[in-house]
Amino acid sequence: MKTYRIAAIPGDGIGSEVISAGVEALTACAKRDGGFTFAFDHFDWGSERYKKTGAFMPDNGRDLIKTHDAILFGSAGAPDVPDHVTLWGLRLAICQPFDQYANVRPTRILPGIVSPLRNVSGPELDWVIVRENSEGEYAGVGGRVHRGLPEEVATDVSMFTRAGVARIMRFAFALARSRPRKFLTVVTKSNAQRHAMVMWDEIAAEVAREFPDVTWDKMLVDAMTMRMTLKPETLDTIVATNLHADILSDLAAALAGSLGIAPTANLNPERQFPSMFEPIHGSAFDITGKGIANPIGTFWSSVMMLEHLGEPSAAARLMRAIEKVTADKSLHTPDLGGKARTADVTKAVCDALAGDNQDD
Ligand code: IPM
Ligand code: MG
Repeated sequence: MKTYRIAAIPGDGIGSEVISAGVEALTACAKRDGGFTFAFDHFDWGSERYKKTGAFMPDNGRDLIKTHDAILFGSAGAPDVPDHVTLWGLRLAICQPFDQYANVRPTRILPGIVSPLRNVSGPELDWVIVRENSEGEYAGVGGRVHRGLPEEVATDVSMFTRAGVARIMRFAFALARSRPRKFLTVVTKSNAQRHAMVMWDEIAAEVAREFPDVTWDKMLVDAMTMRMTLKPETLDTIVATNLHADILSDLAAALAGSLGIAPTANLNPERQFPSMFEPIHGSAFDITGKGIANPIGTFWSSVMMLEHLGEPSAAARLMRAIEKVTADKSLHTPDLGGKARTADVTKAVCDALAGDNQDD
């Protein structure tokens, strides 16, 4: 029987609560499936470690996880550590060297969840945002000189490479092709940013020729926020730069009812390195330790992990369990307006998995 080795990195805040819930659900999923098992290795990397030792992960950290089949990540961020230090010290320290250049963020309104948009109940909003995850505004290029002096200068240069843009466009067109509508929206800002964004548009048009069966259109990022809000049914697959997609995916999660349910996959599509799966929500220190964090974001991310591992029927089964549970309002955590606890939701998902008789 196949055993998948998963590196579990809970990180900070509610990370450990949602990751242990995820481990429980994945274990139940493997048990129900019967065709594979999981072996989890836990890594205590995060802000606590940083405060004690000066590093979020050991020097050989990436070597310790580079042969795992996948990484399950909780969250990174603590109130007493600057956010950019955390981001570069842990999450980007894994994403960038492991070349997880495709960040995939599906958004749907799950059963039982209410969108803040009037007239949107479910089928009108079914999107996948593809976020360029290796360069652009997060390239880390820039610097700061003459600190504290009146002539201080600081730059953050966004950096786009032809190779980087072409590969994310190919990934997004292929993903759009795999979905029933075969429709891609390319988000840009080439009216104001006349170099890199113009190249972005040109490469989109070039790659589009390789996918004649995919329809596509182009949208300026500012106008995109209006289209997402006012005409959600006109969108399907979306590709955007690192920062544009960061912003749009928060909007998407809010429109779908809660950040607590939104999942993400940081993929290395060539599989030279493990891919990383994580809920979009942050470490949420205000509710840490209270046992009320919503584990659905982690469960949905686990569905994406199962798909990536090549276990589509287990993935579908876990997704069915999630939807069965969200449909029951008594199992909603406080972020969804309910009173359920992390453990209640986790147990309900595990029970739904055990009771799922559908064979696919
Ligand atoms: C996300 C988050 C991160 C990002 C933060 C925590 C740095 O907002 O995954 O969308 O900007 O990438
Ligand atoms: Mg974000």
